Amino acid sequence: MTVLDRLFDNNSAWAEEIKKQDPRFFNKLSEQQSPEYLWIGCSDSRVPANEIVGMLPGELFVHRNIANMVIHTDLNCLSVVQYAIDVLKVKHIIVCGHYGCGGVTAVVQDKRYGLVDNWLQHIKDIYYRHEDRFERCLDEEERVDVLCEINVVEQVLNLCRTTMVQDAWNRGQELSLHGLIYSIRDGILRDLQVTYDSIKDVPAPMRIPVLLGRV
Ligand code: CO
Repeated sequence: MTVLDRLFDNNSAWAEEIKKQDPRFFNKLSEQQSPEYLWIGCSDSRVPANEIVGMLPGELFVHRNIANMVIHTDLNCLSVVQYAIDVLKVKHIIVCGHYGCGGVTAVVQDKRYGLVDNWLQHIKDIYYRHEDRFERCLDEEERVDVLCEINVVEQVLNLCRTTMVQDAWNRGQELSLHGLIYSIRDGILRDLQVTYDSIKDVPAPMRIPVLLGRV
């Protein structure tokens, strides 16, 4: 008996269930993956990417971090984005935030948790930059939820500004970026209507010069 017994038991039951529905499922999957979507979401255990959009293994390429951020210098996230665009050729990148996000709440409440406070400085920057948007908020909960939405919009814009996304558009690759928000209160996903699918959607000062010989 190990402390992980529950996980192993669940795993074998899950694998059996999948094989019951499609005996060749894992054989097919082990040969290749061809997901159409890259999901950038929060690490929060209540926001499991595949489950909430009903996708099977192989259908969603996933990157998760605290407060679903796309930071210009985060090699981890940038590598996922590059591989997804250049190798997997995903057609959609979804940044999905969620209401009541712990990272966003920490900023609104001005609480400290350790090293992660440094990561959350990016959220703090957004909070100060959009100060006026919070004047009409009735309480802290509303401030958190508004900041969760603004954060998604900002992260989609950050994604727009990456060389990988702009190079893909400049060479005519089909690629759309979307900003969604999930409610852990009712399980419903909402589109924040910040879809970008061409270099023309990017404000001129944020466009990167085309790399000669590459695109
Ligand atoms: Co969160």
